[in-house]
Amino acid sequence: MKKKFYITAPIYYPNDVPHLGHAYTTIAADVLARWHKLLGKEVFFLTGTDEHGKKIAKAAEKTGKTPKQFTDSLIPEFKDAWKKLGIQYDRFIRTTDKDHEKVVQHVLEKVNKKGEIYKGEYSGLYCTDCEAYYTEKDAPDFSCPVHKKPLENLKEESYFFKLSKYQNFLLDLYKKNPDFISPESKRKEIINRVKEGLKDLSITRTSFDWGVPFPLDKKHYVYVWFDALLNYISGIGYLENKKMFEKFWPADVHIIGKDIIWFHAVYWPAMLKSAGIELPKKIFAHGWWTVLNEKMGKSAGNAVKIDKLIGYAGADSARYFLLRAAPFGDDGDFSEKELINRHNNELANKLGNLVSRVSALIEKYGLEKTEIKNLKIEKTKKTIEKHFEKFEFDKVLNEIFSFTDRCNEFIQNKKPWETKDKKVLYELANAIKDFTILLSPFMPETCEKISKTFNFKIDLKEINKPLKVGKIKKSEILFRKI
Ligand code: ME8
Ligand code: MG
Repeated sequence: MKKKFYITAPIYYPNDVPHLGHAYTTIAADVLARWHKLLGKEVFFLTGTDEHGKKIAKAAEKTGKTPKQFTDSLIPEFKDAWKKLGIQYDRFIRTTDKDHEKVVQHVLEKVNKKGEIYKGEYSGLYCTDCEAYYTEKDAPDFSCPVHKKPLENLKEESYFFKLSKYQNFLLDLYKKNPDFISPESKRKEIINRVKEGLKDLSITRTSFDWGVPFPLDKKHYVYVWFDALLNYISGIGYLENKKMFEKFWPADVHIIGKDIIWFHAVYWPAMLKSAGIELPKKIFAHGWWTVLNEKMGKSAGNAVKIDKLIGYAGADSARYFLLRAAPFGDDGDFSEKELINRHNNELANKLGNLVSRVSALIEKYGLEKTEIKNLKIEKTKKTIEKHFEKFEFDKVLNEIFSFTDRCNEFIQNKKPWETKDKKVLYELANAIKDFTILLSPFMPETCEKISKTFNFKIDLKEINKPLKVGKIKKSEILFRKI
């Protein structure tokens, strides 16, 4: 039986159109999904939109639409963006989907049966942009540490989830599963904060009604994070498709940005434990793209929109840049100039030229099968596998591009345009096959074109097989210089 791999990206707030930050997480998840497919696994990749709560209700109000009309109008923006960026998800879940809403109510009933919900009053600070509660300790100047905007003072009747009970459980979980939270620096931060103690979590609101109705009290609506996190189980059929759920759950990894690690690393495992559901295997929180050292964001108004991102040099080039330019887990300051430089120097000069030169020479002189002596990919492949296990996309790409450097040196040294050596050309064509297969999760469209030019299938098994000798014509230009 095939192994399974279940990966999720966040479900984004459709309070505005998506931007580079959302693209980043979604591309990373897509690359991993494609990589695990290459490894022969049955993959499920989930993303979507987080549509309830005050933030969305407020944004809708400004447009004069109802919240549902408002989010309906934005969903195509997300779907188009992912299509243009070559994202292959298996489901686009909306928290307004009926099957999801049922799961939220069902889980709340389970948690209630366990005696872990009680009625009280919430009094404290809130950031609607984050949809998060803050304490004075987190925000000594009463402004949101992420959005830098004044926090709201809330005081309302609310139901609480007994999160405080889970402190030891969580600390134990992190200790026994050192890989549960990555990167390590983030894991340490979470451990330290959980050690300081956990407050019970306010999970309902009465001051607005754009949310899942709370099944235990008609006046109340479910807190948006309690609703949103459950998308990861409803998206694979927790109630409606038991077979699928059992196949894919637990998630192999939730890919998120560091802004939402607290919800995923603390609330989420506690909620699942309380409801008697198995925990996910891993949470990976990547860093932020910043502009002049401020987090790029909708709320900040400094976001690079998707069409702009693709407009620089195309979708594959954007995918490449985002994963190459900063280690996954670190922050990166976005630079248009760097994107263009990498496109010109790495993609057009190194990769594009190699493919076009080799294909043109083969069209002219042909190929002759030979044993591969110089351009063996085996070691590169092994190293790449290890980097992928650690989510080191930048290192995977470095490794692939060192191999293309070797190909470029080889062609320089052997000068097949003078010698017309068909065996040298064969070795180069076979090498192009090998690195293209490894590169395909990052640049699917480009790699598809290369595979058509050189007549091979994008399949890991093809790496161990010699390239079939067939008719090869000069490749179209893969990357136009800017
Ligand atoms: O938080 N750099 O949605 P959201 C890198 N609905 N990544 C960024 C980024 C940036 N500057 N800006 C956004 C929510 N992101 C919730 C999630 S999940 C159950 C619910 C990415 O629209 C990053 O993945 O605010 C971040 O975690 C996410 O978008 C936040 O998107
Ligand atoms: Mg946000």
